[in-house]
Amino acid sequence: MKITFLGGGNMANALIGGLLNNGFPANEIAAIEIGAETRTRLERIFGIRCFAEPDAEALACDALVLAVKPQQMHAACLSLQPFLKQQLVISIAAGLRLADLSRWLGGHKRLVRTMPNTPALISSGVTGLYAMPDVSEAERLGAERIMHAVGSTLWVSEEKQIDTLTAISGSGPAYVFLFIEGLQQAAVELGFSPKQVRQLSIETLLGAAKLASISEDPASALRERVTSKGGTTEAALRVMIAHGFKEAIIAGAKAASERGAELGELLGKD
Ligand SMILES: NC(=O)c1ccc[n+]([C@@H]2O[C@H](COP(=O)([O-])OP(=O)(O)OC[C@H]3O[C@@H](n4cnc5c(N)ncnc54)[C@H](OP(=O)(O)O)[C@@H]3O)[C@@H](O)[C@H]2O)c1
Repeated sequence: MKITFLGGGNMANALIGGLLNNGFPANEIAAIEIGAETRTRLERIFGIRCFAEPDAEALACDALVLAVKPQQMHAACLSLQPFLKQQLVISIAAGLRLADLSRWLGGHKRLVRTMPNTPALISSGVTGLYAMPDVSEAERLGAERIMHAVGSTLWVSEEKQIDTLTAISGSGPAYVFLFIEGLQQAAVELGFSPKQVRQLSIETLLGAAKLASISEDPASALRERVTSKGGTTEAALRVMIAHGFKEAIIAGAKAASERGAELGELLGKD
């Protein structure tokens, strides 16, 4: 499968690195990237072919991954139109809807919309995928293989679920970072050194996440198991719950979902 990336920035780098690590041959990967320095870097680090702009050679691929910023996408899609054939097109752009991308690509219908998240940059992402009806089973597998290079994948059956998924896994790392900030501030106020604060907070989060990932039990059961009656955890949770800890996360995620729908409207206006 020959893959061309449109845009050779952060996310393309993560995907290309992941594909190469998974044994994908470098001579089957190309990138169209406007930045001369970025092109040189991609060629040097990954040994892939780079192009300054789209042409027939750059688009001689089975899958084209749209990896420019959402605001750059309209202009970028128009430049692809003359060279686009029947290849599979995969968008990783946040918020952009397939109907708008399809229109900008001259009515192209073999489109997959994906939503990776930031941990994809260290191959620990989770990516949601949605395919237009014209995408074949083999093409779906191809899209999945590409996104699997940066973490786990899951398909959704309706495009609007990509927006809702963005509110959970897309913005989710920021919710986790906010939690880490809170835990770290508490550790500082309780007298730990910066090195200890970092170790205690991050190792706790990693350990708890690992435990949740290997356990068959729901998070609530794991929480109950560490909450002895009259103990320290119970004292903490009582105060956190009284401050609306869980409700705040739920309300925040719903606000992200609503904002996602608004941004989709705005980004696809022209
Ligand atoms: N980073 C994340 O964690 C993350 C997570 C989920 C989804 N995404 C999505 O991934 C996409 C890429 O994000 P990113 O962080 O990788 O962006 P990025 O680092 O800015 O990469 C985009 C690259 O494409 C270049 N470019 C712009 N217009 C071009 C064109 N017409 N033809 C060829 N190259 C062009 C840019 O050059 P200039 O810098 O000169 O403009 C830049 O080097 C975005 O749509 C974003 O929504 C990112």
